[in-house]
Amino acid sequence: MTQLPGLLDTEAIRKDFPILDRQIHDGKKVVYLDNAATSQKPRQVLDALNAYYERHNANVHRGVHVLAEEATALYEGARDKVAAFINAPSRDEVIFTKNASESLNLVANMLGWADEPYRVDRETEIVITEMEHHSNIVPWQLLAQRTGAKLRWFGITDDGRLDLSNIDEIITEQTKIVSFTLVSNIMGTINPVETIVRRAQEVGALVCIDASQAAPHMVLDVQALQADFVAFTGHKMCGPTGIGVLWGRQELLEDLPPFLGGGEMIETVSMHSSTYAPAPHKFEAGTPPIAQAVGLGAAVDYLTSIGMDKIAAHEHAITEYAVQRLLEVPDLRIVGPSTAEDRGATISFTLGDIHPHDVGQVLDEQGIAVRVGHHCARPVCLRYGIPATTRASFYLYSTPGEVDALVEGLEHVRNFFG
Ligand code: ALA
Repeated sequence: MTQLPGLLDTEAIRKDFPILDRQIHDGKKVVYLDNAATSQKPRQVLDALNAYYERHNANVHRGVHVLAEEATALYEGARDKVAAFINAPSRDEVIFTKNASESLNLVANMLGWADEPYRVDRETEIVITEMEHHSNIVPWQLLAQRTGAKLRWFGITDDGRLDLSNIDEIITEQTKIVSFTLVSNIMGTINPVETIVRRAQEVGALVCIDASQAAPHMVLDVQALQADFVAFTGHKMCGPTGIGVLWGRQELLEDLPPFLGGGEMIETVSMHSSTYAPAPHKFEAGTPPIAQAVGLGAAVDYLTSIGMDKIAAHEHAITEYAVQRLLEVPDLRIVGPSTAEDRGATISFTLGDIHPHDVGQVLDEQGIAVRVGHHCARPVCLRYGIPATTRASFYLYSTPGEVDALVEGLEHVRNFFG
């Protein structure tokens, strides 16, 4: 078995993930390399979900009975865990949403309805990048269409980095918000947060970071990032689906208006008007995703027990090995950074002129799960003049043996298509 420095004890870790033992297609062990789409769930998270429903299920914040108090303590306890995980100065800065898309839509709508000095209107500009997931493009397009604000963006270099050569022309005195991804979901690029934040701060613009592909893989410290908002999702970091997070700076959350109205987010309601609960509840209308938050809390405990720095080191070693092995495959071209530096464990590639859907299907027949398509980042494919890519994405349980299986699988694809 290939040994690399920095690897985690994957033999032990894989025992926590029942699904990784699954056999498909006549007894082939599943090689799960689609972690950027969603991660697998450890038994600790599955147990927490079960325990919640079996022993504590009730609605939160409303009841005086024991189960309601337990459910509330578990839900709010999950908020404490997430706050500690991202080094938030206050637990009240952690808003639970349905997913990262909802978190980003929430920021866009807060700014759309805000008063000065936050309001986005026809005099102002919104800055994003060509590297964004659709969830960090479409909400801003909608906001621009509704308010008349101008949408601007950074382009991408040939090697899959952000082109910041014109940063002073893109981020200007008119810029109200700069929203960008920390790690590209299609190319794995890790972006230079500090440079962008510094320029945004110079002109007084707010900064929103999509950390969906970062929170599962590296130490995420919202204070170090110096952003105003950070969005991520639970299901890519060993948690359940249906739970996302928006972290926002407390004074902004106090000033900005709610987006969704309903139960839980109010202080008082009359037939004429309402007043709102303080953040985070102001932004959590209706019955929240209680079990999902509890599951996310268990995921945070699980990742923390292993150590985010150790997970990052493991993935770096796997990525270095994967880049090296993939570049040995004839006709394979990596779309994005072709070294392991400043990149995460998500690698997109093309294989000659074989369509990625065909690549994905032949790999699947061998038990290897990858994602093919534009990965909800179609502007990146347009930028490189390709319809789609094949994407392999690794996580804390990925092994060098799985990289070898992918490379052998790709040889098989090449033979199959002559
Ligand atoms: N955003 C997820 C991905 O990149 C679904 O695959």
